[in-house]
Amino acid sequence: MFEITEKRILNPTVEEITVYAPNAAAKAKAGQFIILRTDEDGERIPFTIASADPEKGTVSVIYQIVGAGTRKLSALKQGDSLHDFAGPLGKPSEIEGENVVIIGGGVGCAIAWPTAKAFKQAGKNVTSIVGFRNKDLVILEDEFKDTSDAFYLMSDDGSAGQKGLVTAKLEELIQNGQKIDRVIAIGPLIMMKFVCELTKKYNIPTIVSMNPIMIDGTGMCGGCRLVVDGKMQFACVDGPDFDGHKVDFDAAMKRNRQYLDFEKHKYEEACN
Ligand code: FES
Repeated sequence: MFEITEKRILNPTVEEITVYAPNAAAKAKAGQFIILRTDEDGERIPFTIASADPEKGTVSVIYQIVGAGTRKLSALKQGDSLHDFAGPLGKPSEIEGENVVIIGGGVGCAIAWPTAKAFKQAGKNVTSIVGFRNKDLVILEDEFKDTSDAFYLMSDDGSAGQKGLVTAKLEELIQNGQKIDRVIAIGPLIMMKFVCELTKKYNIPTIVSMNPIMIDGTGMCGGCRLVVDGKMQFACVDGPDFDGHKVDFDAAMKRNRQYLDFEKHKYEEACN
């Protein structure tokens, strides 16, 4: 059993749990993910590893309460245990490029932050741009500041940081002549799509972290399939990081929408 040793509320719908999982903690690298189940009948939920402490044997994950599975997870407290906690899975992020811009959108910042931290620890120059709908949804602001040489907070309504989209800030930096070897974008599919359209225009290599529906996490079920460079790829074993200029975002968004009704139904069941 995997005990929850700590729980932190980051905003009204986003939480962080730290779990005692020494095997995963010993091997975890930035960009990798775990799959957990709250109980024997629970849904298998993938989460990117936010941080790992091999000495304490703990792994932290950050999640948004969006469906039945995360609602069940949210009901657990410090001291409770998870039924499964499998990982690390997927390929670690490649820490390449001297001057990088990390872009996080909404809860995608939970993945963008460990990526920023890994680049910073490798001695790279890190600019972070994070975007949220409003000030109530902002997460990990201090953590990003600690791991970035430059940090920009954007919000749709201007209630936190500057008003505007992350893509507007990125384009401003490019036009101001900032040297950027690589952009890493992590957040909603639509955000990653527009970041990639922009960086394609300026010929800046761009990596995205894809988080489709996952079931087994081992390349067997096909649940996480994506189209990348015209070929089928599995996010769980071929990713989750991909060359953003080659990802078919429209196909990924269409596939995501197919699961929305099912997820809404399961969520309503869990609420009753
Ligand atoms: Fe089953 Fe990736 S989750 S193939």
